Amino acid sequence: MSKKAVEIQEPKGKLGVLLVGLGAVSTTFVAGVEAIKKGLAEPIGSLTQMGTIRLGKRTDNRSPMVKDFVPLAALNDLVFGAWDIFAEDAYEAALHAGVLERDLIAQIKPELQAIKPMKAVFDQYYVKRLNGTHIKQGENKMALAEQLMKDMEDFKQANGCDRLVIVWCASTEIFLKATPEHDTLESFEQALRDNSPTIAPSMIYAYAALKSKVAFANGAPNLTLDVPALMKLAVDNGVPVCGKDFKTGQTLMKTIIAPGLKARYLGLHGWFSTNILGNRDGEVLDDPESFKTKEESKLSVLEYILQPDTYPTLYKDFSHIVRINYYPPRGDNKEGWDNIDIFGWLGYPMQIKVDFLCRDSILAAPLVLDLALFLDLAQRTGMRGIQEWLSFYFKSPMTAPDLYPEHDLFIQLMKLKNTLRHLKGEDLITHLGLEYYD
Ligand SMILES: NC(=O)c1ccc[n+]([C@@H]2O[C@H](COP(=O)([O-])OP(=O)(O)OC[C@H]3O[C@@H](n4cnc5c(N)ncnc54)[C@H](O)[C@@H]3O)[C@@H](O)[C@H]2O)c1
Repeated sequence: MSKKAVEIQEPKGKLGVLLVGLGAVSTTFVAGVEAIKKGLAEPIGSLTQMGTIRLGKRTDNRSPMVKDFVPLAALNDLVFGAWDIFAEDAYEAALHAGVLERDLIAQIKPELQAIKPMKAVFDQYYVKRLNGTHIKQGENKMALAEQLMKDMEDFKQANGCDRLVIVWCASTEIFLKATPEHDTLESFEQALRDNSPTIAPSMIYAYAALKSKVAFANGAPNLTLDVPALMKLAVDNGVPVCGKDFKTGQTLMKTIIAPGLKARYLGLHGWFSTNILGNRDGEVLDDPESFKTKEESKLSVLEYILQPDTYPTLYKDFSHIVRINYYPPRGDNKEGWDNIDIFGWLGYPMQIKVDFLCRDSILAAPLVLDLALFLDLAQRTGMRGIQEWLSFYFKSPMTAPDLYPEHDLFIQLMKLKNTLRHLKGEDLITHLGLEYYD
């Protein structure tokens, strides 16, 4: 061990994982954890549960499991809660989502039935395709935020939780840009009291979480806490946060393939991505205003990875088109097609076709688990504000102002693991490796 390890509080007691939205992703996550706890399934896709981390030299043979290397909450210590605009419990919601087999859901019925969503903060103006009934009423948006803070406190008491984290797994809201109301805490709080339309429900949850010193991850592309007032509140209150938009499916593939093309200096004329999906997320994204939020999140990835300004011969002016088509028969089993027009030596064109028959929520659920556990770790370590080392999990990673986001999955993974090594005082791995040849 080369440096001093950072002091990390042990994960004593229960960790409450509060999910905003009890839909396909949330129920697949919760049902999955319950099934794993009973030995019915394996946590495939979860870095915290399946991953190892190499320490020291390649010849040292030290590669512990990530969960043995850093002190993470155990699955048995997780307690789940949620808010949703529909009152159905997690059992009914899981059946409704239609992701997992009914047989599997039946085996964890009591655990799922115990999760009854709290009333949501919701306004159809921000999600046009949804119309719910299980919604809080309040004099203004500040009153709604106070109700959410009380929900958190009540949940913590009722379930004997030592700590809480929140993961936004609710529907994608309409596209919003930061305005002067989002600049300072004072202007933000005034906007809450004034019921300003610039404050979306997701921002009310985020504000309530930060005021209550509860870590918050944003799994959707909404603006949510990515505004100066809330970023400052996170730092001032010592709360770790991360987002935005879980990196699954097509964008995951993009951030795997694009770094490879760039590594070999292969050029790109265009990348056309289209997909069909039929779940409720697809229905919400069928509204142009919600789609716009998603599109922005999906489009930025290639520009940042390929750096057209640095490599104009290879990447200047490539076309990048992303389509999402709501097609009910497919349910959660999305199909994503990519047509990639590349060019090689002397400019000769070639094509790559990808047809990814994926399952959206199966890809997203392990990310929710890892984010909940890592945010809790960050909280116990005293890390505050944006947790860029968790970019690995997001399509549109939050970064410090004026810093461009890192989208390359492999750089993101290295950053994540080096952060863990740093916390434990281990040498960072640079892959230089000259010492093996001295
Ligand atoms: N599954 C993936 O691969 C993936 C990837 C990236 C992002 N996402 C995002 O994750 C989110 C969840 O996806 P999903 O497939 O579970 O969708 P879903 O429609 O099945 O679930 C969303 C749930 O949120 C509820 N909801 C909406 N607004 C709410 C509010 N203000 N408060 C509380 N609940 C609210 C809805 O009633 C619904 O039950 C979406 O925003 C989606 O875009 C999913």
